Amino acid sequence: MKHTILYDASKQEDVAKAARLLQEGGLVGIPTETVYGLAADALNEEACRGIFQAKGRPADNPLIVHICDIKQLYTLVREVPETALRLAEQFWPGPLTIILPKAPCIPDAVSAGLDTVAVRFPSHPAAQAIIRESGLPLAAPSANLSGHPSPTTAAHVMHDLGGKIDAVLDGGPCSVGLESTVITLAADPPRLLRPGGVTLEQLRAVLGEVILDPAVMNPLAEGAAAASPGMKYKHYAPRANVILLEGGREAFLRYVNSHRQNAGALCYAGDEAELQVPAVCCGGEGDSASQAHELFDALRRLDGLGVSTVYARCPGTSGVGLAVYNRLIRAAGFEVLKLE
Ligand code: TXA
Ligand code: MG
Repeated sequence: MKHTILYDASKQEDVAKAARLLQEGGLVGIPTETVYGLAADALNEEACRGIFQAKGRPADNPLIVHICDIKQLYTLVREVPETALRLAEQFWPGPLTIILPKAPCIPDAVSAGLDTVAVRFPSHPAAQAIIRESGLPLAAPSANLSGHPSPTTAAHVMHDLGGKIDAVLDGGPCSVGLESTVITLAADPPRLLRPGGVTLEQLRAVLGEVILDPAVMNPLAEGAAAASPGMKYKHYAPRANVILLEGGREAFLRYVNSHRQNAGALCYAGDEAELQVPAVCCGGEGDSASQAHELFDALRRLDGLGVSTVYARCPGTSGVGLAVYNRLIRAAGFEVLKLE
C-alpha cells in the first residue's frame, strides 16, 4: 500500500509538488472540468503502464493525452488537419477529445497498440496549471477503478484509488460531470465515438457531416470490434440492477410505486416526494446539464440504498442529453422498459 497524499489545487506549492511527482514517473489524480483523471507522464511508458495497473484497466483500452497549449498537439500527432484546427478553435480548452494518427513518440501503452492517439486540452485551471508546471503531456483516463462510475470529486478518487497512487490534487467538484466528447478525425467522415459536454449538434455545425458511432446508443454486436475500445466494457454500474423506464413522469411514478419490493429509484428533482421507495435525485427533468453534473455521484450513492433493483427515468437524447443517455444505458446494461 502506498500513502496517497491529498494536495490542494488552490495552493501553488501543492501544484508544484504534484507536478514533481509526475516528472518522477508517479501517478496523480487531477481535476478537470469533466471528471478527475489519473495522470502520468504520457511519454513515460512505464509510468503509463502503472495507470492500467492501479485502475485494473484492460490493456487494450487506450488513454487520452492532455495538453495545455495547442502547440503541444503538433508533437503528439503525425499531422494536424484543418478540421482539427477548426474544432480546437471552437471547443478548446474544453470537454472535447480529438483522435488523430499518432506520432512515433507515443508509447504503445498509451495508444494500446492502435495507430492513433486521443488528445484533449482541458479548461479546468488546475488541470492547465499542473500540465504547465510539469512541462509534460499527461496521459489520463478517468480516475476510477475500471467499471466504476467516473469520479467527479477528489473524495471519489480517494475512495477508488487511495493506497494505489501517489497523490490526488483536489480542485473541487467537476463542473461538467461526464467525460469528454470523443471524436475521431482518423476516419472520413469524422465519427463521434463518445458523446459528452460538446454536443453532436455543435460538432456538425463546425464540421458538417459527423457520423454517430452505433456503439453510442446500442450494445456492440457479439464479436464486433469497437471503434473506441472503452465502449465495449460494462461501465458505471452500481451494485443494484438498473432498469431504465421510458415514458412520462406519471407512468414512472405509477410503475415504481407498484414494484416496490427491494427497489429504489433514480429520479429527477421533485419526484422523491411521490415515490414510495428510497430514491436518489439526479438533476431536473429536461435539464440535461444538471443531470450530467449529478449522474456519477448519484450512481455512486445508489449503492448506499441497499436495494437490488433501481428504476431510472430515461433521459431525453438531444444536446448533452445524448451523453447522459449513453452513460445510463451502460449502467443499465442496455435494459430499457417502455411504459404505456
Ligand atoms: O473527460 C475525459 O475524457 C476524462 C478526463 C480525465 O479527461 N478522461 C477519460 O478517459 O474519460 P477514459 O480513459 O476514461 O476514456 C477514454 C475513452 C475510452 O473509451 C477509450 O477507449 C477512448 O477514449 N480512446 C482513447 N484513445 C483512443 C483512440 N486512439 N482510439 C479510439 N478510442 C480511444
Ligand atoms: Mg473511464
